[in-house]
Amino acid sequence: MSSSYVEDPAPGHGSLPPRAAFSSDARSMSLAGTWRFNLSPSPEAAPEGIARDAFDDSTWGTLTVPGHWQLQGHGKPAYTNVHYPFPVQPPLVPSDNPTGDHRLTFDLPAGWPDEPAVLRFDGVDSCAKVWLNGEELGVTRGSRLPSEFAVGHLLRPRANVLAVRVHQWSSGSYLEDQDMWWLSGIFREVTLLSRPVGGVEDYRLHADYDHVSGLGTLSLTAAEGVLLSVPELGVEDLPAGRPVELAVEPWSAESPRLYHGEVHTAAERVPVRIGFRTVVIEDGLLKVNGRRVLFRGVNRHEHHPRFGRALPREFALADVLLMKRHNVNAVRTSHYPPDPYFLQLCDTHGLWVIDECDLETHGFGDLGWAGNPSDDPRWGEAYLDRMRRTVERDKNHPSIVLWSLGNEAHTGRNLAATAAWTRERDPSRPVHYEGDFECEYVDVYSRMYADHAEVDRIGRRDDPNERRRSLPFLLCEFAHAMGNGPGGLLEYRELFERYPHAQGGFVWEWLDHGLARRDAAGREYFAYGGDFGEQIHDGNFVIDGLVHPDRTPSPALAEFAKVFEPVRIGASAEGVRISNHYDVVGSSHLVFRWTFEDDGVEVAAGELAVPEVHSGQSRDVPLPRLPGASGEGVLTVRAVLAADTGWASPGHVVAWGQLPVTPAADPVPAAVGAPLLRERGLLRLGPGAFDAATGRLVALGGHRVEGPRLDLWRAPTDNDRGSDDPEATQWRAAGLHRLQHRVAEVDGQASALVVRTRVAPPGLGFGMLTEYHWTADGDRLRLRVDLEPAGEWPCTLPRLGLRMAVPGGFGGVEWFGAGPGEAYADSRQAARTGRFSSTVDALQTPYVYPQENGNRADARWLRLTSAGGAGIRIEGEPVFDFTARRWTSEDLDAARHTVDLVPGELVHLNLDLAQHGLGTASCGPGVLPRYRLHAQKASLTLTFSPITLEGAARWPVRPRSASSRTRTGTVSGTSRSSGSACAWSA
Ligand code: GAL
Repeated sequence: MSSSYVEDPAPGHGSLPPRAAFSSDARSMSLAGTWRFNLSPSPEAAPEGIARDAFDDSTWGTLTVPGHWQLQGHGKPAYTNVHYPFPVQPPLVPSDNPTGDHRLTFDLPAGWPDEPAVLRFDGVDSCAKVWLNGEELGVTRGSRLPSEFAVGHLLRPRANVLAVRVHQWSSGSYLEDQDMWWLSGIFREVTLLSRPVGGVEDYRLHADYDHVSGLGTLSLTAAEGVLLSVPELGVEDLPAGRPVELAVEPWSAESPRLYHGEVHTAAERVPVRIGFRTVVIEDGLLKVNGRRVLFRGVNRHEHHPRFGRALPREFALADVLLMKRHNVNAVRTSHYPPDPYFLQLCDTHGLWVIDECDLETHGFGDLGWAGNPSDDPRWGEAYLDRMRRTVERDKNHPSIVLWSLGNEAHTGRNLAATAAWTRERDPSRPVHYEGDFECEYVDVYSRMYADHAEVDRIGRRDDPNERRRSLPFLLCEFAHAMGNGPGGLLEYRELFERYPHAQGGFVWEWLDHGLARRDAAGREYFAYGGDFGEQIHDGNFVIDGLVHPDRTPSPALAEFAKVFEPVRIGASAEGVRISNHYDVVGSSHLVFRWTFEDDGVEVAAGELAVPEVHSGQSRDVPLPRLPGASGEGVLTVRAVLAADTGWASPGHVVAWGQLPVTPAADPVPAAVGAPLLRERGLLRLGPGAFDAATGRLVALGGHRVEGPRLDLWRAPTDNDRGSDDPEATQWRAAGLHRLQHRVAEVDGQASALVVRTRVAPPGLGFGMLTEYHWTADGDRLRLRVDLEPAGEWPCTLPRLGLRMAVPGGFGGVEWFGAGPGEAYADSRQAARTGRFSSTVDALQTPYVYPQENGNRADARWLRLTSAGGAGIRIEGEPVFDFTARRWTSEDLDAARHTVDLVPGELVHLNLDLAQHGLGTASCGPGVLPRYRLHAQKASLTLTFSPITLEGAARWPVRPRSASSRTRTGTVSGTSRSSGSACAWSA
C-alpha cells in the first residue's frame, strides 16, 4: 500500500527533536483559519499530487483549522471506551481509512525575517504527512503531541502551499485507545515560527525550594550563550549551569507565586515564569516543599460539545476557574498532555498537575493483553518518543509534580524503559503509572476505583507487597461521576485524612463528553455513543463528568466543593471551631461571615473575628451575640475570600458550616376533629375529597389532585445500572416499577378515613401492607402512612415514599429544608438548611442521560403555588424528601435524551421517607451499607393544606417540632461486595 508509513509502528519522522513549548519575541504566524479540505474513504482513494502548487483544490470544501472533520460535516464521530473499533492486528489498520487532505495557501507577513523557521503542529489526530511548497517534510504521529519541522529554506514571500494529509487510523491508533470520541484532524494550533540565528532553541529552568532554609536554587540548562534574567530577584544574565541561591517565596497550588523573567540571547527573548518548589518522596510520603500534599483532584479530558478536543482557549480558562472555585486543587491530564495553554493556567492559578503521556492500549485487555505493544520491542521507540515529547514540551511548568507514563496499557518492557528515561531526564519529578500494579518502575502506588474498604487496608499498610507498602498512595481515578452521583465522596475524604500516605485522588472525571445536536424540532440535546450510528459503541459511558457538556456544574461538583473544602467550620464547646485543611496556607486570605436564620429567615448577620489559623490547625471562637428565635435557629458561618484571587472575586464562598442554635418550638398541632362526610361517591374530610371506592384523595380545597399513594420506584441512575449485578436489574425483576395497589378496605370512621391496601408486584408473592390514616381539621388534612413488609423482599428499594400529582399550574416551589441543590443519602454535604424558592422546571437536573434527579432533602414544609398564589402546602412530621416534575418517574425511566422529556399537564410529586443511596457502581463500589434502603416497617406523616389567595396571605410560618430531624424510618442494611468492574446495563 502506498501509505505504508501509516502502519509503521515507529514514531513519525522528519521532525525536529522535541523541546520546551514557549513563545518569544521572534516573529510567528498562526495558520489557524479556513483551509481547503477533501475527505477520501481511504488513502488509495485520496487524490494524487496535493502537494503541488498547481494542484486544483477549487472543488474541495473548506474546514476550520484547528478542528475535527467529523464535527464539521465530514464523516461521523464514534465513541468506544475500551474496544478498538477495528480488527486488532497491530500495527495494521483498516484499509477503509478515512483520509482528510488539508491545503492552505498563505503569504508571509510583511517584514518576515529571512531566517530559519519552524512549522509547528500542536496536535494532529492520528497521523499526517506534511508538505510545504511541494517538499515533503515528514510524518507526524502521537495525536496529542507537538511536531515541528524545519521549513525556513522552503518559505517564499507569497503563495506558500501547505498540504497535510491526515489519516483517521494509523499504527498510532493502537496506542491511543483512550475512553473518548474518535475524532480526527488537525485539532490544535498550527504555527509558523521564525527561529532567529543565535536564538533560544530550548531551555530548562530548575527552581528548587528548600523549606528549611527558605532559599530557592535557580539554574538554567541551555546552550552556550543563553542567559536568564529575573529582575524581581536581582538575577541578571545568569548563564546556564551556574545555580544561584535566593530568598524566595515558594510556589504551591494554594499560593502560586511566580517570578517573571526572561531567557534570552542577543537574538531572542523568551518571557518565563518561575515557580520554586521541590517535590520529594520521603518517609513514604509525597511532599512538596517539605509538606505532605493531599490531591483533591479531577481527571480532565479536553472536550467541547461543538469542537471536541479542538478546545478554544476560553474553555480551558473556564475549566480552571470552575475547578478553583470548587476547591479542586489537582488535575490529572487524562490521558494525554493537554493543550499547552492549560498548563500555563495551572501555573498561574495554582493546580497540582499529573501530566500524562498520550498512551493507552486498553483494547488489548479484551485479548488477554496478547500482542499488547507495551511489551513488544517493535513499539519501544514509539513509547519513548511519546514520553520524550511530553517531558520536553512541558518540563518548565511548576504546576507539574508527577509525570505519568500513560493509562491502561497493562505492563511491559517499553513502559519500564520509558520510566527509566523519564527519571533520568527529570529526577525532580516522580513517575506515576497505574498499570504497574507491582510498582516495579513507578514512584507512587496508584489505583483506580478501589473501594473504601480497600483504601482503608492500603491506609493501614496491610499489603503483602513490600514495595507498594513503602510508597505514597493515590487514587488516579475514583468516585465515577457518571449521571447522578458519585455517592460516598465524604467517606473517601475521611480515609485520606486518616492515613497520611493516602494522598487523595482524582475524581473520574471533570466533564461529560456530550456532543451538541438538535432534534427534528430544533431543540438542542447532547449526544453520546450510538447516536451517530456506530456499530460498536459504549453508549453514555462517556457522560461521566462533574460538569455537564456545556460546563454547567452538576450537583456532584457542589458536593465535591463541600466535601473537599479546605476549611472546616463546626460547633465546639467554645462556640465555633475553624479547622484549616489547606496543605500550606493559613487563613488570612479569608473573612468569616455569619448569618442567623429563624425558620430559614435571616434575622441577624455579621463578621466573626477569627485570628489566623495555620495549616493543619484549629481554633475555637465564641458564638456571636445572637437574637432569640421563635422557630428553628441556625447559625451559618461562611469563609469567603477577602480579596480577588484571579480565579474568584472577594466574597466567594470557600467553605461553610452550620450550627443548630435553637431547636424548633412546639410541635404542629395535629389536624383532627373534622367529621367524615359522605356525598355521592365521595368522602369529605376537612379540605379533602376522596373517592369512596378507592379511598384515594381526589381534591384538596377545590384543587384536583391525584392523591398520595405508596411508591417505590425511581428512574434508575447510571450507578443503579452499574456493576455485575445491577441494583436496577434486581428492582425490575422484583417488579418495583409496576406495583399494583389492592384496596382491602376503605374504613370511614366518624372523624377519620382509614384505607388499607396491599401494594405488590404482579406475579410475585411479597408485598407492602400499607395503611393510610387520614384526619383533618377545618383547613388541614393529615396523613399517616404505616408500612409493613409482607413476605420476603428480594432486594433493596429505590425509594420509600408516596407519589401524587397536583395541577400543572403549581409551578412555583418554596421549601424550608435542605437545599438549594439536590441531595441523596450519600451525597448531601452540599445541602444546607434554609428556606429556598425555585420552580418545578428549575428543580430538574438535566442529566444528559435522563435518570432520577432533583431530590430535595429534609423539607420541614413545601409549598407549590401558581403564579396567582393558589396552591398546596405540605408539612412533615418532622421532615420529608421530595421531587417535583412535569413528568412521571416512568417517563424519566423511558427517556434516553433530555428532549424525550415532554412536560405533561400535572406536577408529579414524590414525597419520601428515604431513598437508596447513589454509590458509584457504574465504575467502582456500590452504595455503602449505611446508605442502602431495605424494605422495612416504617411510617411517614404529612399534613396537606390548600392555599387560596386569602389563605396564602393568612398562612403563618408554623413552629416546628423540637424533635430531632431524623426520619421515622431508618435506613439499615447489610454489606454487599462491591465490584469495581466498569460495566452497567441498560
Ligand atoms: C478507567 C479509565 C478511564 C475511564 C474510566 C471509566 O478505567 O482509565 O479512561 O474509562 O475507567 O469511565
